[in-house]
Amino acid sequence: MPTTPLTRPLVTSLIEDAVTAPSMHNAQPWRFVHRTGGDTIELYGDPSREMPREDPDHRGLHLGCGAALFNLRVAAAHHGRHAVPRLLPAPDDPWRLAEVKLTPAGAEGDELAVLHPAVRERHTSRFPFTEQEVPSEILAELRAAAALEGCRLVVPGAWHTDTVLNLVHTSELFEAADEAVRAEVATWMRGGAADEGVGTEGIPDRHPRETLTAGTSAPPRAAP
Ligand SMILES: Cc1cc2nc3c(=O)[nH]c(=O)nc-3n(C[C@H](O)[C@H](O)[C@H](O)COP(=O)(O)O)c2cc1C
Repeated sequence: MPTTPLTRPLVTSLIEDAVTAPSMHNAQPWRFVHRTGGDTIELYGDPSREMPREDPDHRGLHLGCGAALFNLRVAAAHHGRHAVPRLLPAPDDPWRLAEVKLTPAGAEGDELAVLHPAVRERHTSRFPFTEQEVPSEILAELRAAAALEGCRLVVPGAWHTDTVLNLVHTSELFEAADEAVRAEVATWMRGGAADEGVGTEGIPDRHPRETLTAGTSAPPRAAP
């Protein structure tokens, strides 16, 4: 397929949307590269933002970068482009996570475009979960959305939730006892509003530091 070069304003807009993605401790561990005249945007993990104690296998880092990649695809669809990602294209460079070729979307457009308003509205809620059940229709929609991405959404039942919560509480104890983990967390905690790292704005008083809001006893509940 012929190359349709990306303009600088378009690339800027796509990346501005991509980087609103969630990331562990809001470390934003990604780097985007566009080479002038090309139709491809490359995504790299940023080793200077890794967390060796809390995320030694880079699983959290990869989740954040995956979310940024998804935002990029949504933004491309909004701008009438179809994004074709190629994951891990460079076996010799583990930090090169994906390259995304952007082609014109064609007359029918790309259905991901409907998600574009949500890209900047989405935010992490750290408030306790309510006792309100998530309606089964919404769970069905979430399952279908996951399946479209080649994933399976597992909604934990009661015993599963208890097991996960126990693991969470145990790991929190281990982490609290580990000075190196505490030091790592401290480097990402900021006061007030924070462009990167976690600010104190919007965090309820009962969560003095970033912890999982794992207050439910029965699944699945809605967060406000
Ligand atoms: C892999 C991953 C792990 C996260 N872990 C936690 C967590 O343990 N506790 C928490 O409150 N938020 C957690 N978050 C949410 C981030 O702190 C949040 O995405 C980041 O501060 C940016 O804020 P935003 O999501 O409102 O844009 C996690 C996010 C990701 C991607």
